[in-house]
Amino acid sequence: MGRFDGKVALITGAASGIGRATALLLAQRGASIIGFDIDGSALADAVDEAQAKGGTMTAVVGDVSSRDDCHAAVAEAIDEYGRIDLLANIAGVASSQHLTDLGQDDWDRLVGVNLSGVVWCAQAAIPHLLETNGSMVNVASSAAMIGQAYTVAYSATKGGVVALTRSLAMEYARTGIRINAISPGAVDTSLTRDYQIPDEADMKLVQRYIGFRGMAGPSEIAEVIAFLASDDARRIHGTVIPVDGGLTTG
Ligand SMILES: NC(=O)c1ccc[n+]([C@@H]2O[C@H](COP(=O)([O-])OP(=O)(O)OC[C@H]3O[C@@H](n4cnc5c(N)ncnc54)[C@H](O)[C@@H]3O)[C@@H](O)[C@H]2O)c1
Repeated sequence: MGRFDGKVALITGAASGIGRATALLLAQRGASIIGFDIDGSALADAVDEAQAKGGTMTAVVGDVSSRDDCHAAVAEAIDEYGRIDLLANIAGVASSQHLTDLGQDDWDRLVGVNLSGVVWCAQAAIPHLLETNGSMVNVASSAAMIGQAYTVAYSATKGGVVALTRSLAMEYARTGIRINAISPGAVDTSLTRDYQIPDEADMKLVQRYIGFRGMAGPSEIAEVIAFLASDDARRIHGTVIPVDGGLTTG
C-alpha cells in the first residue's frame, strides 16, 4: 500500500523541476495527480513518466495567473477524481534585475504567476479541502526570508506567499485543513539554470544567497512537500519551513 493511496493531489508547475518531482513522488506513493501547468508538452511528458512508473496522473494545461484557469483546474480534479486532498502551489517564475530596470510586464508576470496563482488556486480548492480535511503546501523561497539583491520583484512575490500562507492558516485555524509553506534555497531546476543576474551585479552581494551546501535536487524538496502533506505533519499548520541548507540561519 502506498502512503497516499486514495488521495488526490492538485499540483501546479507539475511539468518541471520541483513540481514534477513532487507529482512523480506522490504518484509513486499512491496518490492520483492532477498536474496543472502552462507548458503542455512538458506536462504530457511528466504524465507519461508517472504512468510508465505505474502512477495515475492527469494533465490540465492552463495559466495559474488566470482565476478562471485555476477554478477550471479544480473543477477538472473534482470531475475526474471526486475529491482533492492536497493543493501544492509550486508553479513559479523568476527574474533578476536592478529595480531601476524592472519593466511593467516582468512585474505583472511575477506577481501574476507567483502570487495571484496561489490565491486563485487556494480560493478554488479550499471548499474541497475542507471536505477531505486536506492540506495545502505553498512554495515560497529563501528570497522571502533574507534581503536578496537584484530580485526585488521575485522576493516581494515570495514574501506575499509567506504572508498569505499565515493569514489563510489563521482564517481556517478552527477547521481540519492544514496550510503551510516551504522556503527552499537554491534548487537545481530550469529556473536556476536559466537565471541571469545583471551584468553589473556586485558578486559579493550575490554570494551571500548561494549558501555553503550547494544546490538541492528537486526530489529533496519534493520529499518535504510530501511530508507536509502526510499525516505525520498533522500538528503542522501555518508554518513556513526553510529547506535551504542553513542559508537563512545567519
Ligand atoms: N529553483 C530554485 O532554486 C527555487 C528556489 C526557491 C523557490 N523556488 C520556487 O519553486 C517553484 C518551482 O520552481 P522550479 O525551480 O521547479 O522551476 P521550473 O522552472 O523547473 O518549474 C516551474 C514550473 O512552473 C510552470 N509555470 C510557469 N508559469 C506558469 C503559469 N503561468 N501557469 C502554470 N504553470 C506555470 C512552468 O511551466 C514549470 O513547469 C517556484 O515557485 C519557484 O519560485 C525555486
